[in-house]
Amino acid sequence: MNNISKYKLRNIGEGGMEVESRNKIEKKHKKPKNIWEDFFKDKTHGGHRYSTEEFLSMEAREKLFHLNGGKTLLDFGCGSAELLTYYAPEYEQLVGVDFSPSMLEEASKRLKEKKCNNIDLILANHETLWKNLDSKFDRITAAGVIQYLTFQEIDDFIAKSSGHLSTEGKIVFFDILDPRLYPLWKLGVFAPNAGILKALYRVGCDFHTSISAALRNRPRNIYGFTHNPYKIQKIANKHDFEMRYVQSMYYEYKYHAIMFRA
Ligand SMILES: C[S@@+](CC[C@H](N)C(=O)[O-])C[C@H]1O[C@@H](n2cnc3c(N)ncnc32)[C@H](O)[C@@H]1O
Repeated sequence: MNNISKYKLRNIGEGGMEVESRNKIEKKHKKPKNIWEDFFKDKTHGGHRYSTEEFLSMEAREKLFHLNGGKTLLDFGCGSAELLTYYAPEYEQLVGVDFSPSMLEEASKRLKEKKCNNIDLILANHETLWKNLDSKFDRITAAGVIQYLTFQEIDDFIAKSSGHLSTEGKIVFFDILDPRLYPLWKLGVFAPNAGILKALYRVGCDFHTSISAALRNRPRNIYGFTHNPYKIQKIANKHDFEMRYVQSMYYEYKYHAIMFRA
């Protein structure tokens, strides 16, 4: 895995990212490629239901259960490493990838704070990532990221992952938006104060947000696209993976897709 360390974002002084790396990043990523890259370019947190360490550690434990071992792990869309730092003690070597410089800057600080010396960070997107890797992983995972990819991009991602996965390796996508449950969640069906009037109010707010976001050519929120699990399963099967899907433990409207070679 030494080959990867050349892409590592080194920490300096008060937890800042090395200036040279930052300049390099900005040069490479001068203009945002898509609306999501633009949306995340200055974000610093992954939008978990609660941002307490207690909650993040519980979420990570659920994810580690499904990851179920392996020695090396690639976390695509690692954000500010809120989960990745909890994976670190369970793996020999980890790589976090994200296209947001601000997220990676936060991740870099967090790695330092938590003394995680076995994680390398790479600034890349779903297309540019692969040319930066020349080793295989036991686990390729992504938590709360697949909703920013189209079905075609997911298809390409699984195909490329397959080439970077060890023989017994697994691809695990966490917290994909379920199109059957997400609309119910948006209506507040799972909220403690659910009711018809509240649901109507939410529909009104959602409509207003959608229109104003469309006018500004911005995503209406952090949530992204929904993906039917059976469609993801079809893509997985096409690339000779079997797929199991399970309900997310902490998000009623999301599911996890666990893929392994048939
Ligand atoms: C909702 S956050 C989740 C972050 C992290 N996985 C976690 O659970 O804390 C989504 C992250 O995916 C990154 N992301 C989204 N689409 C991406 C892409 N195509 N390539 C690289 N990173 C991407 C965003 O920059 C953001 O940091």
